[in-house]
Amino acid sequence: MNNIQGSLTAEQLQYFNSKGYLVIEGFANPEECGQMMQRMRELLEAFDPSDSSIFSSKNQQELTANHFYESAEKISFFFEERAFDNDGKLKQPKELSVNKVGHALHELDPVFSKFCCSAKLANALASLSYKRPTIIQSMYIFKQPGIGGEVVPHQDNSFLYTEPPSCTGLWLALEDATIENGCIWALPKSHKDGLVRRFLRDSNGVHFDKPSPTYDYKDFVPIEVKAGSLLVIHGDLVHHSFENKSPKSRHALSLHAVDTDGCTWAEDNWLQRKVAPSPIYVA
Ligand code: FE2
Repeated sequence: MNNIQGSLTAEQLQYFNSKGYLVIEGFANPEECGQMMQRMRELLEAFDPSDSSIFSSKNQQELTANHFYESAEKISFFFEERAFDNDGKLKQPKELSVNKVGHALHELDPVFSKFCCSAKLANALASLSYKRPTIIQSMYIFKQPGIGGEVVPHQDNSFLYTEPPSCTGLWLALEDATIENGCIWALPKSHKDGLVRRFLRDSNGVHFDKPSPTYDYKDFVPIEVKAGSLLVIHGDLVHHSFENKSPKSRHALSLHAVDTDGCTWAEDNWLQRKVAPSPIYVA
């Protein structure tokens, strides 16, 4: 890491600009990871499963729309598609059935906001030329053992569009992420080809404006990382993750930052805020 905590070195920036992603090992220490995992255990314990919906990156239109939209400013729970039996009952305990929790953990929960508003995170974004970095959404992703769902190839700018585009993914591994338990795979340099399509919200719900291009999975590289590593993902980089068929979970905190200085939030993004999000502090 650079001498200003969290800021990127010239070599790291060069790598990021060239490949479209960057791994910063040891960005979060074991204590920070442990505190966030413990806090999530507590949130799950207090969670009533009768108040949720299924999340699938393959089947966006069948989401319970209001649960999804309102989660922009809440701490909402989303189940794995394969968490239920034919009678609609959970096949296993709720703590092994949840796909993710989002999308305002960074604002509403003090344990998560401590990390999400940290100077080191703001400094990392300042290195990437953000003038007023703002976390627009946070997701705790479980990638549950055995049933953790696939995330199909996508670009984050499709979902969190500003004009001009400014989204960066900040994906913190809370547990080791490996090929076995469903790590992220990236298509190196794909950010240089620009944004392919957008995910729009209108009176009919949410939908993509174009079909997905066909990607060759052989072109992607696995990003295996240790717990505490931060994977920085350019908003136009194509990335995905496979199902987790292993017996090991792969918990991660996925944040997305945009610039609220000089960039305008699109009114047809799925995520719409009633209260404008606050920028994070730059040391
Ligand atoms: Fe993504």
